[in-house]
Amino acid sequence: MEIIRTVGEMKERARALRASGAVIGLVPTMGYLHEGHLTLVRTARELADSVVVSIFVNPTQFGPSEDLATYPRDLERDVALLEDAGADIVFAPEAPDVYPRGFATVVHVQRLGEKLCGAFRPGHFDGVCTVVAKLFEVVRPDLSVFGQKDGQQAAIIERMVEDLGMDVQVIRGPTVREPDGLALSSRNGYLSDEERAEAPVLHAALEHARSLYDSGETDTARVLGEVRAMIEAKPHAEVQYVSAVDWKSLDDVAELRAGTMLALAVFFGKTRLIDNLVLGEAGGEG
Ligand code: PAJ
Repeated sequence: MEIIRTVGEMKERARALRASGAVIGLVPTMGYLHEGHLTLVRTARELADSVVVSIFVNPTQFGPSEDLATYPRDLERDVALLEDAGADIVFAPEAPDVYPRGFATVVHVQRLGEKLCGAFRPGHFDGVCTVVAKLFEVVRPDLSVFGQKDGQQAAIIERMVEDLGMDVQVIRGPTVREPDGLALSSRNGYLSDEERAEAPVLHAALEHARSLYDSGETDTARVLGEVRAMIEAKPHAEVQYVSAVDWKSLDDVAELRAGTMLALAVFFGKTRLIDNLVLGEAGGEG
């Protein structure tokens, strides 16, 4: 496995791979990898000849009061995990290389980027889209794998790729969870023991919503109300939003149907967790 630390070298390497006819798969990450990330890498491994995993804690997607400085980092450990998972190249650039002096360009996906998490994290998805567009330009992958865990992010990237006619196939990988249902996240490590014990309620509440839907309930307000009540029964939980949207367009849905994504963001103390679930067949929930 190769480790590449500069944009220039990565471009050159990707150019050579393309020239050799290799199908290139890219898995963008911010590092501190867990089984969720590694599952995406394995998916890319199945579909591509060359698997590039980027590790870059992207400053432009963090708000001023968010955890950029304290975001967990461990490149050595990540490299070992990626070697095992079968990655070919780890691309871990430095911020000044990704964002040269005078950087002034932003990719903004209207509407989709302004709701759900976007309403509470202004500019977040601009940062995500800008860095992903940049990674696509550097690596020029044939395919790129994103997790359903960040369902809004995946939908926004798909919109961006379609709108800008980018030549990359976006693939969604299922959400990987702890045995108790908590979705894996680098931020789970911030939870106190008490908060950690309560956090599986997010998945339990979403599964409760799914069972209501499966037994014929389509009243969005009623189902979302039950989800919210289950979560709010936990003393450390503070709901930021619980919403029902179409999993691709992110448009609100009045009546639940197959393809509806139930999405939520909840604080446990200072730690903000997100989760979602797609009703019916669509969405690839694992
Ligand atoms: P990061 O949070 O490191 O996540 C990298 C990828 O792993 C994303 O596609 C995310 O959806 C996926 N992922 C995270 N937890 C997962 C889980 N439990 N199951 C399945 N997939 C999971 O998302 C980002 O980084 C950044 O915004 C990025 C796209 C790299 C742009 O900076």
